[in-house]
Amino acid sequence: MSMEPTPVGGERRFPVTELGPDAASELVALSGTAYPLTAGPDQKPTVGQVAAELADPDVMTLGVREPVAGRPLVAAACVRVNPDDRGVADVARLVVAPGRRRSGLGSLLLRAAEHRLPAQVRELWLHINPADEYSRRLYAQHGYRQAAHYRAAGNQTALLVKPRRRGARRSAQ
Ligand SMILES: CC(C)(COP(=O)(O)OP(=O)(O)OC[C@H]1O[C@@H](n2cnc3c(N)ncnc32)[C@H](O)[C@@H]1OP(=O)(O)O)[C@@H](O)C(=O)NCCC(=O)NCCS
Repeated sequence: MSMEPTPVGGERRFPVTELGPDAASELVALSGTAYPLTAGPDQKPTVGQVAAELADPDVMTLGVREPVAGRPLVAAACVRVNPDDRGVADVARLVVAPGRRRSGLGSLLLRAAEHRLPAQVRELWLHINPADEYSRRLYAQHGYRQAAHYRAAGNQTALLVKPRRRGARRSAQ
């Protein structure tokens, strides 16, 4: 999904860029720092799987890089427009490098993703472990509310839903 970059608050300090398939290894490495214990080998995507996702036109993956030599990736989030209902987009893989948490990067990426999605997207969905108190707090601050609770692959999962802010919807192109 290639959208013209539109800055949101916070981007002057930490520019947000859309990541392409060449960022797959970095993204896998960053995700590995986020879920070192919880994700088993079957849950950890390979570089090839992530590269395919980054090339998918329905997927937008945003990242923030350190403003230093080599510009390592320190935060990322992925949003996929649902192919069966293009009014809905799923937010996934939000991750911030351990040394950069609590400085607003997770929030910045949530705002930037919501702002850059195609105009027809009216609702954002995401799935979390309901026991993850930090994620619950983060998403509640951004207006996500629990819409369902279910078990998936033996794990408790909460579906959080947020109506897209009117101001965040781009006019149709
Ligand atoms: C969850 C995660 C993405 C948050 O990123 P972040 O950049 O630290 O988030 P922000 O700085 O924007 O924090 C926003 C709010 O989230 C909540 N929050 C995030 N981390 C928290 C923590 N460690 N303790 C308490 N509250 C926390 C707070 O309400 C915080 O607001 P505040 O700083 O004003 O109190 C990051 O901790 C992470 O990568 N975790 C591992 C991966 C993960 O769990 N991803 C989400 C899976 S659904």
